[in-house]
Amino acid sequence: MRDLRISVMDRCNFRCPYCMPRETYHEKYRFLGSHERLSFDEIVRLARLFVQLGVRKLRLTGGEPLLRAGLADLIGDLTAIPGVEDVALTTNGVLLARHASELKAAGLKRITVSLDSLDPQVFARMSGGFGSPAEVLDGIEHARRAGLEPVKINAVVQRGVNDHTVLDLVERFRGSGVIVRFIEYMDVGNRNHWSSELVVPSKELAARIAARWPLTALEPDYLGEVARRYAFADGQGEVGFISSVSQPFCGDCTRVRLSSDGMIYTCLFATHGTSLRDALRGGAGDDRLLELIAGVWQQRTDRYSEQRASLPHGPGEQPKVEMFYIGG
Ligand code: GTP
Ligand code: 5AD
Ligand code: SF4
Repeated sequence: MRDLRISVMDRCNFRCPYCMPRETYHEKYRFLGSHERLSFDEIVRLARLFVQLGVRKLRLTGGEPLLRAGLADLIGDLTAIPGVEDVALTTNGVLLARHASELKAAGLKRITVSLDSLDPQVFARMSGGFGSPAEVLDGIEHARRAGLEPVKINAVVQRGVNDHTVLDLVERFRGSGVIVRFIEYMDVGNRNHWSSELVVPSKELAARIAARWPLTALEPDYLGEVARRYAFADGQGEVGFISSVSQPFCGDCTRVRLSSDGMIYTCLFATHGTSLRDALRGGAGDDRLLELIAGVWQQRTDRYSEQRASLPHGPGEQPKVEMFYIGG
């Protein structure tokens, strides 16, 4: 257990159809109430315990984490925990222009911004009609100026939706220091109408990119790195591929996920989790919580992405936790 991904907010200001399709997450959908979400004190207490058990890297996610009021305060507390080596944040970027400098001042090191296309129409289709490439680019610029580097970009690729705009995205950021990573569209949750026909295997994408800008494979930055990295042969930086469908990486997974209501999940495709909030609010001491967390981790056998192809009823049948709720 090396990485803890903390979802601080189940709400989002986008409705990306592959994550929070509008037909399900409409005005009447019941999101968590503020008393149901872990407080910052509760999150910090749990994070300390995870660090005692080996976690070195924290990533804040959502929904959209910047919708959580006062997030910089939480970041300040998390970065101060002895043993924490890396604190990052994943955001859709539209609130970054407003928050980048306070996040940096609080101790955040770097950010990852979701940006699926630079084409305004394609972007709108993939965000459910919210935000714009211009706003996200402005957010990225503010983050860079604040020193939240390196900025990484996550782009989910769907065949026939945005795959024709992939080269534009590469061209825009090549040589800028911003690292673009393409994610294969995944069957997370049960509500995004996933189909394997919509997946563009990374190999195909990499070949398309390399035909224009030759690439050379790089060694992983750290054990269990999710993205496979390639350098542009002309020295203009790198590009990454997250290929959980075509090349699963369950074998060296070191990630544990904490939802905004205090459940822990040991897999992005988990069917059930364990509530730390109930234990915490029921008065459990640190020893009991450590035992609970360690027990969950020791018993894990997750390898969903490796098993996907052989599931008896196909990926749609198994009840899975939703991505906006555990944050990817
Ligand atoms: P750094 O390498 O530290 O920058 O982080 P990262 O690669 O973990 O980046 P990020 O947190 O942005 O993760 C990128 C995406 O990879 C996530 O949004 C998910 O879509 C996917 N991902 C992360 N962890 C897993 C995992 O355990 N399983 C699968 N299938 N996908 C994952
Ligand atoms: N498949 C792949 N990536 C996804 N994300 C959200 N849903 C999916 C999915 N079904 C991505 C978001 C964001 C990150 C948190 O996960 O675009 O970049
Ligand atoms: Fe929001 Fe991110 Fe999900 Fe899009 S992918 S709906 S931005 S949480």
